[in-house]
Amino acid sequence: MAELPETPLLLLDRERLDANILRMRSALAPHNVTLRPHVKTNKCLEVTQRFFADGKGPITVSTLREADVFFAAGFTDILYGVSIAPNKFEHAARLLAQGADLKLVLDNLETARLLADYARSSVQRFNVLLEIDCDGHRSGIPPDSPVLVEIARVLEGSGVTVGGVMTHAGNSYDSRSIAEIEAFARQERDAVVEAAQRLRDAGFELSVVSVGSTPTALFTQGLSGVTEVRAGVFAFFDLVMAGLGVCRVQDIAVSVLATVIGHQPEKGWVLIDAGWMALSRDRGTAKQPVDQGYGVVCDVSGQPLGDLIVTAANQEHGIISSRSGHLDNFTALPVGTQLRILPNHACATAAQHAGYHVLTEGRCLGYWPRIAGW
Ligand SMILES: Cc1ncc(COP(=O)(O)O)c(C=O)c1O
Repeated sequence: MAELPETPLLLLDRERLDANILRMRSALAPHNVTLRPHVKTNKCLEVTQRFFADGKGPITVSTLREADVFFAAGFTDILYGVSIAPNKFEHAARLLAQGADLKLVLDNLETARLLADYARSSVQRFNVLLEIDCDGHRSGIPPDSPVLVEIARVLEGSGVTVGGVMTHAGNSYDSRSIAEIEAFARQERDAVVEAAQRLRDAGFELSVVSVGSTPTALFTQGLSGVTEVRAGVFAFFDLVMAGLGVCRVQDIAVSVLATVIGHQPEKGWVLIDAGWMALSRDRGTAKQPVDQGYGVVCDVSGQPLGDLIVTAANQEHGIISSRSGHLDNFTALPVGTQLRILPNHACATAAQHAGYHVLTEGRCLGYWPRIAGW
């Protein structure tokens, strides 16, 4: 790394990134499925290109802004993974008109009727995946609901193809053991495969059966009937994933470089110039057995420093203390010391930054910008 760069900044360890991608590809290799990585974690062309030895995509995006930027860079097969809002129909139609193979998601009759009406007066043909609720986590249609076929019938003949079904096992993040993650993976697969079967029985031809969360993707024991896996955070990993036992702390590829700006010895605090603006307010480990505060403190080379964590975060101040209560050895961390903070949630921490300072063999050899906004 350059001599004492100005902080805070976001570091990305390229070797760890590549190893994490390889691990996911190896985990999925026996299952004969396509990896459609979710780029919401990285929001970066250079990172996403590393998923694909040849070709560009397929990918999942979390915003149509990501779709615009990735499409302009040559990624054509794009799944927008959030239920489409009516005020985005035009944006989606624009991407289709430009030649994108864009797939949309929806999970309710209201949106289906609005999209069907829009499609009837559009020259574009829309391709939709119906979202299935596999675990009560958030959105989606229960796989056994009659609404599933009703939605497909509303779309039929309107200029909207029902191309498949998709689900996301978000509740796998609450697992307390690998066995529980494996059970969530089974539940995720079973739900979309059941939904696909019901639609096929009703006469719909589906080509896509899509699942995806990092824990379930890495610990699935069978994906028969599934065609693709969307996972995202695995490329970076984070303390939430380490807390689940999905990765090791030393696999985490992103960290925030920060600098010691002061001490409060009577309180056992070290102050750094990275507060929640640099680290995010995400406290995803708070509900795990080991609460990591706002992040684990490492030395500048990335080695965790004993039991130090960021225990509090103001906008531009982070407060470091030791998990056991008191930090006595302040001389080891004088003002100006640079430290790395590992994030609770890589997507949230990375989103606080405009781009990645990329480390290769410990040296910062590049800057990769991120896509911001919607
Ligand atoms: C719809 C959808 N698919 C896939 C993913 C990827 O999950 P993960 O970040 O656990 O890999 C997410 C993450 O939130 C998601 O919302």
